[in-house]
Amino acid sequence: MRAQQQNMKLFGLLSLLVGALAIGQINAAGNTHLVCYYDGGSFVREGLSKLTLNDLEPALQFCTHLVYGFAGINPTSNKLVSNNEKLDLDVGSGLYRTVTGLKKKYPALKVLLSVGGDRDQVDPDNNKYLTLLESSNARIPFINSAHSLVKTYGFDGLDLGWQFPKNKPKKVHGGIGKFWKGFKKIFTGDFVVDEKAEEHKEEFTALVRELKNAFRPDGYLLGLSVLPNVNSSLFYDVPALINNLDYVNLHAYDFQTPERNPEVADFPAPIYEPNERHPEANVNYQVQFWLNNHAPASKLNVAIATWGRAWKMTKDSGLTGLPPVAETDGAAPAGLQTQTAGFLSWPEVCAKLPNPANQHLKGADGPLRKVGDPTKRFGSYAYRSADDSGENGVWVAYEDPDTAANKATFVKAKGLGGVALVDLSFDDFRGGCTGGEEYPILRAIKYKL
Ligand SMILES: *[C@@H]1O[C@H](CO)[C@@H](O)[C@H](O)[C@H]1NC(C)=O
Repeated sequence: MRAQQQNMKLFGLLSLLVGALAIGQINAAGNTHLVCYYDGGSFVREGLSKLTLNDLEPALQFCTHLVYGFAGINPTSNKLVSNNEKLDLDVGSGLYRTVTGLKKKYPALKVLLSVGGDRDQVDPDNNKYLTLLESSNARIPFINSAHSLVKTYGFDGLDLGWQFPKNKPKKVHGGIGKFWKGFKKIFTGDFVVDEKAEEHKEEFTALVRELKNAFRPDGYLLGLSVLPNVNSSLFYDVPALINNLDYVNLHAYDFQTPERNPEVADFPAPIYEPNERHPEANVNYQVQFWLNNHAPASKLNVAIATWGRAWKMTKDSGLTGLPPVAETDGAAPAGLQTQTAGFLSWPEVCAKLPNPANQHLKGADGPLRKVGDPTKRFGSYAYRSADDSGENGVWVAYEDPDTAANKATFVKAKGLGGVALVDLSFDDFRGGCTGGEEYPILRAIKYKL
């Protein structure tokens, strides 16, 4: 009798809790998300770009979610697996447990494991992310292993950075040479992204449904990351998916990169379309696609990249730096810390902007000319035209605290769920550039949300 009363009490309490949770979800406006990505790979970098757990902590007061990446798929077993077992799983020092252990100190923080995220090796001829979808027998080991990894290591859920095939970059043709202005035409040819896109779309919906069903008894979260240059209309049946997803992070950046578009430099992640080129390659288009397909605004997070994309300007790229910049020659040289051609973290970009340390330097070490974004629509860039011998030309477009704040303002104005910051390790987590304040981009976003 007593036990039964206790149970009734407990049940009452639980219903109250569930009710409160539901209200929390509906009332998302006052409760915007700041999803922080933490790439475990940054833990094993050399030098100043190595981010340790001590470096991570100052960020956590601002993050509602921490997404740890990136797990992968074993193509033989179709299981979700760590891509670096020593780093992730070692007893005592493994990052899976260390990262979820942060919840002791930050109890409101949700920690998710992310799969894919363009970091998992894929054989292009036998894309495991597609073959896994194609048979329900292959989906089962994936779902079971995902559930088991989440449970074993104490994550709050799974983030699906599903590696669907990407759009082919649009070749842009125009006049050539110095006096070249704007574009005449945009070609894609008759390239088909995926012959079986329609089937894969249906199968992905099934996977998400099955995953959510497996997660529901434990209350685990399931999020989707729409990766850069993946065409949502090809692969995501929004109305059928959305009820089984807790959030969707729209990774609306890297639309233009030196790898994809070596000959023309342009804004990689504008909020709006710059001057009638690339109508789909902007944040607003991506957000609107999901809203038009009945995704609740409160489930959509706009992902903001903390890096710049850098092209080599040639003598034929002209002197103005005004994008689109023609006749570029692929990726600019790698940064000292991140060591990746065409890619510069925010602190690396920041160090190239005019400052007391570089004001008298010349050539490759001299400062870039900075062009901010008074329109608040496209992002910042900085450049140095090629010199007389055609050397040292750079054009880099990047996100800084101001442009990230513009995106957060956009998110607020649209009533969206929030922002996803990708990646904490490329923000100025040491505060080296802006006078000691760590994570300036993260802070700028938080301040606007
Ligand atoms: C995405 O796919 C749709 C067809 O579903 C197509 O009309 C559109 O041009 C594609 N977008 C890009 C950027 O390739």
